[in-house]
Amino acid sequence: MEQIETNTDFAKDVQTGLTSGTKSLSSKYFYDDTGSRIFQDIMRMPEYYLTDCELEIFETQKQHIFESFTESGDEFELIELGAGDGMKTRILLSYLLEKNCDFKYIPIDISEDAVSNLVIDLELKLPELNIIGKVGDYFELLNEKEFNGQTKKILLFLGSNIGNYNYPDTLAFLSKLKEVMNPRDLLFIGFDMKKDSDIILKAYNDPHGHTAAFNLNLLQRINDELDADFILQNFKHREVYDSETGTAKSELISIKNQSVEIKELNLTVSFEEGEAIFMEISQKYDTVMINELAERSGFQVVRNFFDKRLFFMNSLWKLK
Ligand code: AVJ
Repeated sequence: MEQIETNTDFAKDVQTGLTSGTKSLSSKYFYDDTGSRIFQDIMRMPEYYLTDCELEIFETQKQHIFESFTESGDEFELIELGAGDGMKTRILLSYLLEKNCDFKYIPIDISEDAVSNLVIDLELKLPELNIIGKVGDYFELLNEKEFNGQTKKILLFLGSNIGNYNYPDTLAFLSKLKEVMNPRDLLFIGFDMKKDSDIILKAYNDPHGHTAAFNLNLLQRINDELDADFILQNFKHREVYDSETGTAKSELISIKNQSVEIKELNLTVSFEEGEAIFMEISQKYDTVMINELAERSGFQVVRNFFDKRLFFMNSLWKLK
């Protein structure tokens, strides 16, 4: 039942995206099990500085983070949206355990593999951890009864996941989070900061080809799930970065005139040589933009945590 629902959404979004004037596909569909694995390869490559920066922040500032999380002294639920392999979070988790914190860790991810691997891994490595993994849509899960209780919630949205939303969607996302939050709850968000374009372009246009594979995997997914005949070699990955706006964009470029049949949609899509499919936005921020975003969406910045190069920021927010 749930599976059918998802397939329908996927089919509809692919249909809309590929029949529009400017073709696009949604990066939210990158994370099937293969895509989640490729994303782990991305996170592990040195060019993808985001992982190291956030690790550094957790490593060097875990004490301050712990203090901000536990200021009220209450027990809490640490709910991670889009937990993936939870590699960075592990540092915080083990520190919180070391400090005898009274908390439950609830990782949420769309990938069933990611969640079950994470739970198995953490049960092994941090046996004292109280963990409940959840698979599915963030808001559907957050709106479940068990989260309406009185326990303080700390929501984690790490790794610059927020960067995948355009501005209106970012505001919409934050306002939906606001609805599930109580006055004592906290929101801890990872923002990737604006920086030298070369550094950003190398992170998203890597020499190993992981980012290209990540994008192309979505065409493969359309082939598999919607019975299409995309020839992956006929598309190449391109990254563009606008240093004014801080927007990095991923595209797949058709290397020739071609048409693709998507049987499940009864649709033939033609591509011209050089035509782009817009795939993903990875928004970069500065502190002014972040403060403005908090202000506009009804939050108040409690405290900011930076790495030493100021490449990345973890910002702790509460309701205004
Ligand atoms: C998972 C959204 C943080 O935009 O940096 C990495 C996804 N795409 N390389 C990002 C991604 C290409 C990533 N986020």
